[in-house]
Amino acid sequence: MVGWEEGPAVDRQLRRWRRETPGCANRAHLNNAGAALMPLAVLEAVQRHLRREAGIGGYEAADEAGAEIEAAYSAVATLLTTAPANIALTENATAAFAQAMSAFALQRGDMIVTTRNDYISSQILFLSMATRYGIEVLRAADLPDGGVDPDSVRQLIRHPRCRLVAVTWVPTNSGLVQPVEVIGKICREAGIPYVVDACQVVGQIPIDVGRVHCDFLAATARKFLRGPRGIGFLYVSDAALERGDYPLFVDMRGARWTDADRFHPVSDAKRFENWEFAYALVLGLGEAALYAAGVGIDVAGARARDLAAVTRERLGALPGIRILDRGSEVCAIVSAEVAGWEGADIVSRLRERGINVSAIQREFAVIDMDEKGTRSGIRISPHYYNTHAEIDRLADALAELGTR
Ligand SMILES: Cc1ncc(COP(=O)(O)O)c(C=O)c1O
Repeated sequence: MVGWEEGPAVDRQLRRWRRETPGCANRAHLNNAGAALMPLAVLEAVQRHLRREAGIGGYEAADEAGAEIEAAYSAVATLLTTAPANIALTENATAAFAQAMSAFALQRGDMIVTTRNDYISSQILFLSMATRYGIEVLRAADLPDGGVDPDSVRQLIRHPRCRLVAVTWVPTNSGLVQPVEVIGKICREAGIPYVVDACQVVGQIPIDVGRVHCDFLAATARKFLRGPRGIGFLYVSDAALERGDYPLFVDMRGARWTDADRFHPVSDAKRFENWEFAYALVLGLGEAALYAAGVGIDVAGARARDLAAVTRERLGALPGIRILDRGSEVCAIVSAEVAGWEGADIVSRLRERGINVSAIQREFAVIDMDEKGTRSGIRISPHYYNTHAEIDRLADALAELGTR
């Protein structure tokens, strides 16, 4: 049996985490890769600001909260081991990623190197760029046990038309952890810009952007970081800023309009932002980053991964359940196929029993799912505030549903 023993010391912490998380009273929430339960502090930060907006006006409330807004940038920067000037806030991770991608003036015949497990919306974005601009999308080969082969990336980026490498650190549909630091070093040595999607990473794996060697890193608030929905962020490296990178559709937040025919991008990462903001969510994000730092990402991640290991062990022992996670390193996302069931139907049945998981389907990750020979399954993503008892509840419910 793997997993943390929930002895007195862990119990005390666990009780506190759960007390500070109102949703724990209602659900066995095992969908943290979808959207985690917000801690009370995050909820209150959002509500407080909305009440201020209603009370004194939206622009006035933002001015009043100026110092707290700056503190939110600092908290996010600390989370990524960088400076506030390198952080841009966005509506979500997809928007952050698209802003970064639009900074590259790609020409017909240019190449993007990516992986077979990059996020669905990134893959669609690459294909759209291929259709519109005639660029080529190259996917590096995987290792036999799953996960991208860094040597394949090294080979592909030797092509003189390779303009950038994009890698999703942890995909949406499985527990795979890609070797982003190794790839980052390869890109840095070759002088190729590197864009990382860390959406499923932030809050469960400590991030040091210097070690990742990335130019851009996109993430969102609502997943393992436990922030509110509807806000994300983009790390922009000093190298990218000094190169003069800015998004194609830069706006009045990101640039100054100096003359009728001229504009200048602002000096920091805010050049990747849009003017309008849900400031309540900015404050919620800041609070989530502080809360995560208080728990400790290493503590949170270790416990979440242990609970995921327990989940794989429990579910893998049930007849008709096939665990789908591959790769030399796996994280707090468990993917499984249940014989005879569509993932969405299981999700509904579990929800009736007060258990939250999510469905995975072929179109979320066509390459990976086809390789695994499956069309549909479930994704279970525990976090540190979950318990062994909740995993037991899930396993019992699945055993009761059986196979079809
Ligand atoms: C790996 C990965 N990248 C990006 C995203 C997109 O995040 P958002 O919905 O905040 O744009 C997701 C969302 O599930 C994801 O799992």
